[in-house]
Formats: sequence, C-alpha cells, structure tokens
Amino acid sequence: MSRVGIVGVGAIGGYAAASLADAGHEVVLRSRRGFDRLVVEVHDGELVVEQPAVTDPASVEPVEWVLVATKVQQNPACERWLGALCDADTTRAVVTLQNGVEGHEALAAPVPVVPSVVLFGAEQVTPGHIRHHGASELVVPVAWQASLGDLFSESRITVTGADDFATEAWRKLVMNAMSGPLCALTLRRLEVFHDRSIAALAVAVGTEAVAVANAMGASLDDSAPDALLGVLRAQPPTMGGSMLYDRLAGRRTEHDAILGPIVRSGRAHGLATPRCETLLALLDGIR
Ligand SMILES: NC(=O)c1ccc[n+]([C@@H]2O[C@H](COP(=O)([O-])OP(=O)(O)OC[C@H]3O[C@@H](n4cnc5c(N)ncnc54)[C@H](OP(=O)(O)O)[C@@H]3O)[C@@H](O)[C@H]2O)c1
Repeated sequence: MSRVGIVGVGAIGGYAAASLADAGHEVVLRSRRGFDRLVVEVHDGELVVEQPAVTDPASVEPVEWVLVATKVQQNPACERWLGALCDADTTRAVVTLQNGVEGHEALAAPVPVVPSVVLFGAEQVTPGHIRHHGASELVVPVAWQASLGDLFSESRITVTGADDFATEAWRKLVMNAMSGPLCALTLRRLEVFHDRSIAALAVAVGTEAVAVANAMGASLDDSAPDALLGVLRAQPPTMGGSMLYDRLAGRRTEHDAILGPIVRSGRAHGLATPRCETLLALLDGIR
C-alpha cells in the first residue's frame, strides 16, 4: 500500500484518487473547494472515499507519490502543496495528469516531475462528485512504466509505457487543439465536427500542429489530422470536452496550454500557425 497525495481532486484527479483508494491505497485529497466525501459514478456503480478534502498544508505529511490533476493554468497555485507533500527521502515522483506538453516542465518540486497522457474521460458534477465517462488508461514515459504500473496494478486504471513519449504527448495535443477550441468557441459539443466547414478547419489546425510536433521531435504522420477527425466523429455527438465545460461554467479555459506550445514552438522553428494563432487570440479575448 502506498500513500498518494492528489492535488486537484476534480474530474481526473477524483477518478484517479477513488480508483487508488478502491485498490487499497491511502489517499490525501487536496482540492480548492472543500468536500466531506468523494463519490465517483462509474459504469458499474459508485466508488466512495469517506474522507474530506484537506485544506491546510501544515496538516499533511509527505507521501510516496503525488498526482497533480489541476488545469495547467492552476499549477502555480499548487506549488505550496507540493512543498508540503513532497520530501526527497519519501516521495518518488510528482506525476502530472494533465493535457498539454509543457505543464510538467514548469512545476517546481524537489523530486522528479513525470508527465502522463490521460486517456480517460470524466467530469466534475459538484466538488467531491465526479462522473467517469469512459476509458481508463494513463500513458507514461517507459522508464516509469514499472513503478507506476505497480502503483495502479490493483486499480481500474491501466498504465502503459511509451518508448516515444513525445509522440504520444503531441498526438494528444494535436487532438486537443483540433477539438477543444472549436467546441469552446462555437459552444457546441462533438456533433460540431459533422459540419463540413468546421471539420475542414479542425484538419487545418491539426496540420499546423503536426508540423510543429514533428519539428519538436515527435513522429506523427501527415494523415494524423484526418485520422483524429475520424476519432472525434466516432465519439457520442453529445460529448463535450473540458474546454467547453469551463467556458459554459464561466471559468478561464486551458487554451494557452493547448494552443500556446504550437504557436510558440512554431515561431521558434519558423513554422507558420495562423489558424492556431487566431484561435488562441479569440480564446484569450474571452472575459
Ligand atoms: N476531464 C477530462 O475528461 C480530461 C481528459 C483528459 C485530460 N484532462 C486534463 O486533465 C487535467 C485536469 O482536468 P479536469 O477535467 O480534471 O479539471 P477539473 O474537473 O476542473 O479539476 C481540476 C481540479 O483542480 C482543483 N484546483 C484548482 N486550483 C487548485 C489549487 N490551487 N489547489 C488544489 N486544487 C485546485 C479544482 O478545484 P475547483 O473545482 O474548486 O476549482 C478542481 O477540483 C487538465 O489538464 C485536463 O485538460 C481532462
């Protein structure tokens, strides 16, 4: 049994926390808004963790693993919790369960910070109440596969190690860049990708993103945007995405973590990304 601290017990952190608790691990739950117990709806019932969220960093002891599952723009506000939960003698790593390719690089922690690609869907209904929508896989750099595979071994979450983690992280970012901004701007769910003009725009965004991804060391095929559009169109049309949910709730969206790396790395490599720049400016302008 391990002690695991979860910073950001929303959709993704809540599902990971409840899965680990269900597998017999001890979890320390840190969310922004408090709750008395964590309830996660899953396809075969509920996972319940009878434990409140902690509010005072002084009350926590260092843990073996820390999972950070806030939105990327919320990372700076989490760092004092990393200071309380991490200790170089006790803590093996901080693992980010986040979209984007840059968030883990900016997190200051006294132990290694390991990125992951989150391949499951969930939504926070209210603080402490999460609904899991499907899939249950985390992809991590292959060097972390054995230890994180052990941690999650009795849980619902499968851990896969990627030899070429950069390609997997950029593939997910290309998908996020094609889907999140267009849903958030049109205020429509995934059915929007059955509109011919939106589908063409999504593929054009994906094509810009793939060129940047490959300049950054990924190995994505030119056909990836069409394939990813096929994936989006195969999803239930009523599904949304976290950027849409944040916009509908009046919260700041995670657009800079999704489009920012494409625009900034594109500039650094002399690659034009006019569609990504336009979407980034539009989302930045929403108040
Ligand atoms: N949801 C999905 O299906 C999905 C799928 C793949 C990847 N992702 C990625 O996973 C990451 C997490 O997304 P999510 O959907 O789980 O977001 P979320 O439901 O909004 O959860 C984020 C949680 O972090 C909490 N938080 C914010 N600031 C904090 C702070 N300073 N200290 C501690 N907790 C704080 C929030 O609390 P409040 O609720 O009080 O603000 C919320 O509970 C994002 O990078 C997202 O892109 C999500």
